[in-house]
Parts: sequence; structure tokens; C-alpha cells
Amino acid sequence: MIKLIKSSFYKEKETKQALNKFISGAEILSFSQQCQLFEKNFAIYQGRKEAVFVNSGSSANLAIIQALLNLGYLKKGDKVGFSAITWSTNVMPLIQLGLNPIPIDVELDTLNVSVETIEKSLAKTKIKMLFLTNLLGFSDEIDQIQKFCEKKNIILIEDNCESMGTVYQGKKLGNFGLASTFSFYVGHHMSTIEGGMVCTDDEELATMLRIVRAHGWDRNLSEANQAKVRIKHQVNSSFYSRYTFYDLGYNLRSTEINGFLGNFQLQFIDEIVKRRQENFLKLSIIYKNPLFYPIKWDHLDVVSNFAIPIVCKSKETKNKLVEKCNGKVEIRPIVGGNMTKQPFYKKYIEENGQLIENASLVHENGLYFGNNPELTKEEIKLLIEIFSEIR
Ligand SMILES: Cc1ncc(COP(=O)(O)O)c(C=O)c1O
Repeated sequence: MIKLIKSSFYKEKETKQALNKFISGAEILSFSQQCQLFEKNFAIYQGRKEAVFVNSGSSANLAIIQALLNLGYLKKGDKVGFSAITWSTNVMPLIQLGLNPIPIDVELDTLNVSVETIEKSLAKTKIKMLFLTNLLGFSDEIDQIQKFCEKKNIILIEDNCESMGTVYQGKKLGNFGLASTFSFYVGHHMSTIEGGMVCTDDEELATMLRIVRAHGWDRNLSEANQAKVRIKHQVNSSFYSRYTFYDLGYNLRSTEINGFLGNFQLQFIDEIVKRRQENFLKLSIIYKNPLFYPIKWDHLDVVSNFAIPIVCKSKETKNKLVEKCNGKVEIRPIVGGNMTKQPFYKKYIEENGQLIENASLVHENGLYFGNNPELTKEEIKLLIEIFSEIR
């Protein structure tokens, strides 16, 4: 059986040995130096000024929405566009925090939102923010989306939990919006077991994210930023300052265990991305099968995905594939499918007449199998056979 995920970490044995040693010698295991170092290292890797480490990609999504509300960039009731094919916890914080989610359809050849699909959705309504998901290592023409958002005064945030390492025209995905979120869950590009990050170049936003991450207080801010917050709120007493809660927050902190893992795994990230890219290039021959919709990636310099999506032109082909993979290849639906069809969405959001045709087709006729750095030549050969030979 070719499994979706083959290991908890890249170089698992070496990582576990290093982790054992770290835990044995560590005095502090709650959020401390390793986490802060991981933030610094990740910001350098991603090429952004600030990185805020949290305990999952879902927490990263929740934190950025709460931070934007706290800063007044968003207000309750504002409309926020989201990619109709995404993960549940991309949309859920919008509903939980009183925003109004507007689904935006994807293109069949990139599986991502494009300027055209945004314009179609916006013909019916205006949005204050776009929470774009870069799906499975792909994107559409994201520089055009960025320009479009700038022109229309729409805040662009990227959910990059599935596309760490993908490069679009010389620039990494996750560097197009005001902020971007990442997941380090097992099986994603690099694993800290559980973990997530928010990246931004906006220092004020990063400060608010750190307030949101931990109880609404100002610990873990730099001394200079602590001083700014305390002056603004006229908190002069050192007795109360550590227990003053400035704005709405949660406890989304990670631990030194996860911080250590982040620093350890980050040394392999270029190797991991390279292997996945090589696998993808070999496997992409599958898209030549006329029974599948072709996927376009020639606008991307690097495709960094942890799974290979297939969208069949008919349900019959998809069903045949599901049967053929049984016991041989672990497969699953494409991410969370069309979010507007999910029970939680239908429970809280009224049908608003948006046409989400492509996402529905991907939901009905799509599936994916894993692309991990440990795939062997024989497995790649078998995958190509199964997916190319189906007629
Ligand atoms: C697009 C997207 N956003 C957010 C998440 C949530 O990440 P996590 O599992 O780390 O909470 C995922 C998870 O796979 C995802 O695919």
C-alpha cells in the first residue's frame, strides 16, 4: 500500500534521537528560546520580516482573523472571500468571529482562485478581505490577484498551509498578501508534529498576533513593543503589567518540543521541497491521460506539494480509480472539497446564489494521493501505471 504519509518527520530516526537528547537536557519545555529561534529562522527562510509561531495551521488562521479584527482592519459583518476548495479551518474562523464568508470558485486547470473567478463573485457583492488558499502547491496568476486586491482595496491574506516552498515567478507563495499562514502538521512540507506560523512584514500586525496568541497579554513582545503597548494603555505598574490583558486572544502557544523540531527540520526543507518537486515532475505525466482535466503549472518555477490531485472528467472514471487504488494506493478527496457543501457551512451560512461549479466538479470527480520525499522509484512507476492506464 502506498500511504499518504510515510513518516512523522523527514529523517525520522535522526530527528527522534536529537529530540530525545533535547528533551533530556531542557530546563524549560513551554514556549521559550527554541520557539523564538524557530520564528527567526522561519522568517529568514520565507523572506519575511516577522514570523509568529502557533500550535497549528488552524490556530494560525484563527489568530490572523482575530488580529485583523482587533486592529480594526476588519469589522464584524464584513464580507470575506475565500477559496471554495479549502480546508474547514480556513472558513470556520470567519464564521466564528462574525464575518460573512463569500465563496469564490476555482479554475479547473489550476484548482485555485483566479482574477476571473473573483470578478465573477464580486459582480454580486463586494468583499473587504480575500482569504486565498494556495491549494496543493499550486496557484493561479497570484501577482495579478495581488494587483487586483490592491486596486480594489481588498486585504489579501494567503492560507499557504499546503504550498510552502512553491515559487511563482521568482517569489515564494506566502509572500503576496499582507500575511500568510503555514501548517507544520505531520505530512505537510515539514513537520513539528503539530504547529503553524503566521508571516508578515507588518510589525504592528505581528505584535497584535503575539497578543492574540497568548491570553491577550504582552509577554513575548520585544521590550520596545511592550513599552509602546503599556504607554498606550497607561499601564505604569510593574505589579499589574504582566497581568494586563490588552485585547481579545486565546492560548495558541506552541512548546519547546515543537520549536526544537521546527529548527531541526528546517535544515532539510530545501532537500524536502526538491524531492517532492522531482516526484511531481515524474508523476505529472499522469495528467496526459485524456480522461483527466490537465493541470497547468508552467507559470510556477517550483511546485511544492504533499499530494497529487487528479480531477476526472467523469464520475465513472473516478469510481473506477477508487476501485483500482483499493489496497494499493491510499487516496482521499481533494482537501476538504467544496466547502459550501459541508454540513457546518450549510448550518451557519445561507445560500447566497454564488455559482461554485468548478469546486463542485472537483468535489465530485476529484481525488488525491500522497507525494512524500520517501516515495520510491517502484512506487512512482506503479502510480504512473495505475493512473495512466485507466481508460
Ligand atoms: C489549506 C489549509 N489550511 C489550514 C489547515 C490546517 O492546518 P493544521 O492541520 O495544522 O491545523 C490545513 C490542513 O491541512 C489546510 O490544508
